[in-house]
Amino acid sequence: MTERADQLARPERLPLIFPSVLGCDFVRVADECASAVEAGADGLHIDIMDGHFVPNLTMGPKMVADLRAVFPKTYLDVHLMVERPEEYVRPFAEAGADCITFHIEATAGRKVNNERDLVGQIRGAGCQVGVAINPPTTAASIFHLLDALDLVLVMSVHPGFGGQKFIEQTLEKTKAIRAKLDAKDENYTRLEMDGGINEKTIKKVLPAGCDCIVAGSAYFGADDRAATTRALRGEG
Ligand code: DX5
Ligand code: ZN
Repeated sequence: MTERADQLARPERLPLIFPSVLGCDFVRVADECASAVEAGADGLHIDIMDGHFVPNLTMGPKMVADLRAVFPKTYLDVHLMVERPEEYVRPFAEAGADCITFHIEATAGRKVNNERDLVGQIRGAGCQVGVAINPPTTAASIFHLLDALDLVLVMSVHPGFGGQKFIEQTLEKTKAIRAKLDAKDENYTRLEMDGGINEKTIKKVLPAGCDCIVAGSAYFGADDRAATTRALRGEG
């Protein structure tokens, strides 16, 4: 396991804070990300949107490759909000992603694709593996994969845009997933939440059992990012 991958696997590191690059000023993205790393962030969350799975376009493998070149030690958490995620595993792995997360809504019901094969494909490309669920999707829809995952991502907004309001109803299923993860014997699996997280909503996110926190607008909109990092860790 690489030093970067080890961060995700060590349960004593609670919680990890991953600022979302989407919340950056894109003209100054390297400076913005450097300030997050200096402020104590554990990695960077990178939102990949294809204009089909979600109604927005963001960035591609080149952004990951360029960030990897500037931040060789920083954990890069790639969140694929795309149709046909299997087509993007290799480009993002080669670009330097540490974890690749695909959406269960992008694979469920498609005869062409077995989710376990996709998990194996991501791992075979040298990355850790996450599965994401949208707000309307049940916790049970991913239970069959839990033994094989490094990360479960519960979306607390409808994916597509930063700066949306946190959806409280997603907390119940998060607790159900936490209970399942606590009961399993295999490798440690992180429980990540993404969307609308700020210094106020974090007070509900952490008690629901999340140990991996994504924040975009609240993080990069903060004047004191070190203070925001601490607040999101529950130390504020
Ligand atoms: C939303 C993205 C999020 C987004 C979070 O579709 O997946 O990662 O950047 O931004 P905030 O924290 O502003 O909701
Ligand atoms: Zn995201």
